[in-house]
Amino acid sequence: MVDEKEGGPGSGEKDSAELGLRSWQNANRERRAITHLRSFGPPKILNSAAALSYGSPMARVQLSDNPRARPGDEHLSARTPPGTVYVDEGVFQQEMEKLFFRHWLNVGHVSQIPNPGDFITRGIGTESVLFVRGGDGVVRGFYNVCRHRGTRIVTDDHGEKLRSIVCPYHAWTYSTEGKLVGAPHTDALEDFDKEDFGLYPVNTDTWGGFIWANLDPRAEPLKEAIAPLIARTERWNVAGLRLGAKHVYEVNANWKILAENYSECYHCAPIHPGLNRVTPYFTGDNDAWMTRGKGVSTVNGGFQTFAGDYTSMTVSGYTKRPPLKGMTEDDRKRIYYWVVFPNMFFSMHPDYLMIHRDWPLSASHSKIECEWYFDPEAMARPDFDPSDAVDMWDEINRQDWAVCERTQLGVGSRAWSRGRYSDQEPLVYDLDKAYTERMAGASSLAVKRPARKRAVTSRKRRAGRR
Ligand code: FES
Ligand SMILES: [Fe+2]
Repeated sequence: MVDEKEGGPGSGEKDSAELGLRSWQNANRERRAITHLRSFGPPKILNSAAALSYGSPMARVQLSDNPRARPGDEHLSARTPPGTVYVDEGVFQQEMEKLFFRHWLNVGHVSQIPNPGDFITRGIGTESVLFVRGGDGVVRGFYNVCRHRGTRIVTDDHGEKLRSIVCPYHAWTYSTEGKLVGAPHTDALEDFDKEDFGLYPVNTDTWGGFIWANLDPRAEPLKEAIAPLIARTERWNVAGLRLGAKHVYEVNANWKILAENYSECYHCAPIHPGLNRVTPYFTGDNDAWMTRGKGVSTVNGGFQTFAGDYTSMTVSGYTKRPPLKGMTEDDRKRIYYWVVFPNMFFSMHPDYLMIHRDWPLSASHSKIECEWYFDPEAMARPDFDPSDAVDMWDEINRQDWAVCERTQLGVGSRAWSRGRYSDQEPLVYDLDKAYTERMAGASSLAVKRPARKRAVTSRKRRAGRR
């Protein structure tokens, strides 16, 4: 296991002192729970500094000023999804069909395959997809499946300067644009035209310098699907950034547990004392929702604000790198965190972009890629060193993966039933609701309220019988 992202943005809107008090009461309850857990939890995750940070006077004041919920917000009366959606392999297969084979996925960056013939392969569920830059410079995606007898063609996860793509079994040969250009001993075949046997195409597009793919040939265009992300990032030159570092982690947790973890900072005080010092969990606001508009959007999230004069999420909390081009005064005081459903976490800092790709491998196992992107001008400087950002996030990532693995262990318990969202978790609810609606058939997250009324009715009925 390893890496991850910070506990995303908080959310909600400002409101009553009553709610602030309720937040504080919740925080105190959590603090007691942390103290209890600390007695047998690994000190790296739960330490005394973390436990104390929830109760600081600053936190108390800010909590009452910045509650993350308004009375009536749906998450205040909702229950979390049932444990089966995190552990059941049948649900996992449905998720592949309904989500990962039907939505745009962030699969890589154009700079990984800069030249004609360069390629990467990506596993998407049980599928393998080949992305190759053609001789014409265009990046295309293909199922990694030979049209002859179905053999997986390429086993390397990347390569460069292929002149053609040759199946190792019987040497059917494809151009880098996917056309079948060689098929020994097929001249005598009846009703056979090589034109009809090119590699199966996969919907592929680029935005922000990233390669995106959608296995659904009828999918809406990428730029419509991720329009909320494009709108929020157009003032920055995302496509002009360059990869500075990458970590890959394997985590024994369901992909949704990782996404839910990204979607709240409720856990930041106990799990990430270092992060919580730089951007306290109660700061910021949310600006994107998946389920609060028409239909179901692919993006939710918001921002958190630096405490004091901190300038970035680094080991020190400061950066020597200049702000990225297009950063406003407000942007320089914030870190933006957006989930792009289903597999990307997009975290824009004043001086770098970090992204995560959340790849489900099974119901209980995921692979996470974490990449850091910087301005190429900053990277060209002789003193460029991304380690202050990378080391900070590597630690945060590992803290998150560790607690996500513990969550995976618990949600499969025969005892655990659906939980409740704190007022700090509206984005988790929003994500879960979007997931539930997309899966169409999973049970509702709403709390069933009529129980009390039914009890009264049945008492009356019993009284009537007497
Ligand atoms: S299966 Fe690919 S050439 Fe025969
Ligand atoms: Fe976190």
